Amino acid sequence: MTERFMIPRSVEWNDTHITILNQQKLPEETEYLELKEIEDVWDAISTLKVRGAPAIGMTAAYGLALAAQRYEASSMAEFKQQLHKDINYLASSRPTAVNLFWALNRLASSIGDAISVNEAKTMLVHEAIRIQVEDEDVCRRIGEHALSLFKDGDRILTICNAGSLATARYGTALAPFYLAKEKGVHLQVFASETRPVLQGARLTTWELMQAGVDVTLITDNMAAQTIYAKNISAVIVGADRIAANGDTANKIGTFGLALLAQSFGIPFYVAAPLSTIDLETKTGRDIPIEERNPEEVTHIAGKRIAPEGVEVYNPAFDVTPHELITAIITENGIIGENYEAELPALFEKSEQVG
Ligand code: MRU
Repeated sequence: MTERFMIPRSVEWNDTHITILNQQKLPEETEYLELKEIEDVWDAISTLKVRGAPAIGMTAAYGLALAAQRYEASSMAEFKQQLHKDINYLASSRPTAVNLFWALNRLASSIGDAISVNEAKTMLVHEAIRIQVEDEDVCRRIGEHALSLFKDGDRILTICNAGSLATARYGTALAPFYLAKEKGVHLQVFASETRPVLQGARLTTWELMQAGVDVTLITDNMAAQTIYAKNISAVIVGADRIAANGDTANKIGTFGLALLAQSFGIPFYVAAPLSTIDLETKTGRDIPIEERNPEEVTHIAGKRIAPEGVEVYNPAFDVTPHELITAIITENGIIGENYEAELPALFEKSEQVG
């Protein structure tokens, strides 16, 4: 029997504003925010009201299209000048997820043929909408490929939130679980809470429970014991940026899970769209790793848990070396032999399909 699931959309275009589901407040509160100014968009991305690589890209694209509607440019040259200023501004909201820069560049390229400022404004909106529409299809295809790696009864560990909330729908690492549910295949998900901001505890469990997916929450330091005691058969994670050699930046804690997977001899999968692959970045060493506010570590839900004045190191991401990645699952298929050769080939496949 096919079951459909319904998770609220994290981002929506509404002509005069962008509506986002405030991911800071979940699961306690389902609060929607209207972003009307480009500064609101920058703030929403920077403070994780909207987060997850594809959702960041979608929101930035809508933010740019929204800002551009108000330009009073008298020529295309002036229009492009204002656009580039706003692109640089939005690009400064977060450094690691490449989807942000990918989406902004895609919007900039989309107005190449515009013959008037008004036409360019419309083209930007259409392109931003296209990014969101495509992402839903892309995520479903990632889910189909990923599901082919699992069998009924498998127990799978994940970290952070690479789900519907982080994308247009389905997610990347969580997509196979939604599709399994639709197809009546039983998979059990173990979700790592993901300190410091708890995207696993707050968001992954919430969205999977909404869809009736079997999910169990663990704290991050329970991963080894869980793999051992619960017979975890694989780890699957999302990605914020995949370098040309396959090294992958994802939420802090991912690298540790990859080392554990290697130790236990279980596969470690990365699920991500082509928009997360950055062939310009040669290796993981070249990926900028965001360091965030120490309060994310010294406080939990606004309450201080560490002594005042303590030194804090708070990297939001880590890089998993490609040697530890069993396979990268994309909308255009699964690769895992030689990332350096296979990653560019995935884009050629797209060109053939498109
Ligand atoms: O800091 P976040 O919450 O934006 O980090 C999100 C992640 O690391 C996700 O795993 C990644 O963006 C993939 S989302 C499909």
